[in-house]
Amino acid sequence: MRVAVVGAGYVGLTSAVCLAHLGHDVRCADIDADRVARLTKGEAPIHEAGLPELLAAGLASGRLRFVVGASDAATGADVVFLCVQTPQGADGAADLTFVEQVAREIAPVLGPEAVVVNKSTVPVGTTRLVERVLSEAGVVHDGVAVASNPEFLREGQAIHDFLNPDRIVIGCDRPEAAGVLTELYSGLRAPVLVTDPASAEMIKYAANAFLATKVSFINAIANLCEVVDADVREVALGMGYDARIGFQFLKAGPGYGGSCFPKDVAALLHTSRAAGYPFELLAGVEDVNRAQRERIVDKIRRAAGGALAEVPVAVWGLTFKADTDDLRESPALAICERLLTEGARVRAFDPAAGEQAAERVPGVEICADAYAAAEGAGVIALLTEWDEFRWLDYERIATLVDRPAIVDARNLLDPPAMRRLGFAYSAVGRR
Ligand code: UGA
Repeated sequence: MRVAVVGAGYVGLTSAVCLAHLGHDVRCADIDADRVARLTKGEAPIHEAGLPELLAAGLASGRLRFVVGASDAATGADVVFLCVQTPQGADGAADLTFVEQVAREIAPVLGPEAVVVNKSTVPVGTTRLVERVLSEAGVVHDGVAVASNPEFLREGQAIHDFLNPDRIVIGCDRPEAAGVLTELYSGLRAPVLVTDPASAEMIKYAANAFLATKVSFINAIANLCEVVDADVREVALGMGYDARIGFQFLKAGPGYGGSCFPKDVAALLHTSRAAGYPFELLAGVEDVNRAQRERIVDKIRRAAGGALAEVPVAVWGLTFKADTDDLRESPALAICERLLTEGARVRAFDPAAGEQAAERVPGVEICADAYAAAEGAGVIALLTEWDEFRWLDYERIATLVDRPAIVDARNLLDPPAMRRLGFAYSAVGRR
């Protein structure tokens, strides 16, 4: 099939390279000419496992091309994916300006039976909105259909998740368009749920909000474990064996971050307020998440001896989770900001995103590696669960620091081993 993907961000780029891999003829558009030029040369702009390989293979096969501007990509396409950003507005609502702009731009070039698909995370009602925008621009709806097809990709595993989905959700009232999309994904082995657009849009928000709820729930349990002298890792294990609960998303830490959970939780709260339904459970999830960062700052302050002014703090990990270079809504960055406000001297290392972090939080000194960051530190704060932090030479680190104290905000390290080496070790929800 001929596929247009508008937006070469995480979702758009992953979808484009994977659809080309599945044998489709893909044109991927972005407004950023520089990004398009780099992609055309095979340079992956984001850190994503498997992306460089699929990008190179797609370009070499001739099935993947990058163009500037949505209308160039959409001309003659059977399916047009809208994968543009939907930033969070001041009131928590998702801002749909880019979605509307692209819909207006592609309207004149759409083929008579094109299927336009929202893949960006968009509020309930956006499929209808796109239909309206296209109608106003003169598109006849007997042929052209609009559908919702939310993605469930995790950053860092986006290619794997696209090619091995748990399910494919298609929200569309028109059976023939749903058939086109089912055919598009026929190379994947996954159940396909065809439903109405509003339900498809809601599935995405409900899934992310539920996962965020799991994270806040286990963080609240961790906080309680600290008081009653229990260990949250044991508790999560004991809960996870129950197949109805499962092991995933029960890791206690500094709270959820990233470009999705905080934004989607805020957007769903906005939708619920607008609908007159007070979703207090979800408001609590947000509150627990916000407070969790403060609890980590408290632990760092305590580990530093009660005050942070002039204390050199070694921060390990800045991205919102491991295996990505994404710093958006990273709890680690928010914690760095708070440390700086209290007068700490923050020396940080991140395996993927050091330099960008320095731009975002001026005042953080970026170091070449974890050892350099630890030199002279009054306390080490491990804030992102990069695997390499497990395997550092902690004997050497004990000789580099000023005071051997570690706050392990991701429960990554082995407490007895750390204590044997002389570190004052504290974690989240563990004795
Ligand atoms: C999330 C969802 O997992 C994807 O299914 C979804 O498609 C995506 O959002 C999106 O809406 O685009 P992602 O933002 O890549 O994916 O991140 P996750 O791996 O879900 O982690 C989210 C946050 O929760 C991270 O800050 C992570 O550190 C935190 N987390 C996760 C925990 O603190 N504990 C856990 O047990 C799991």
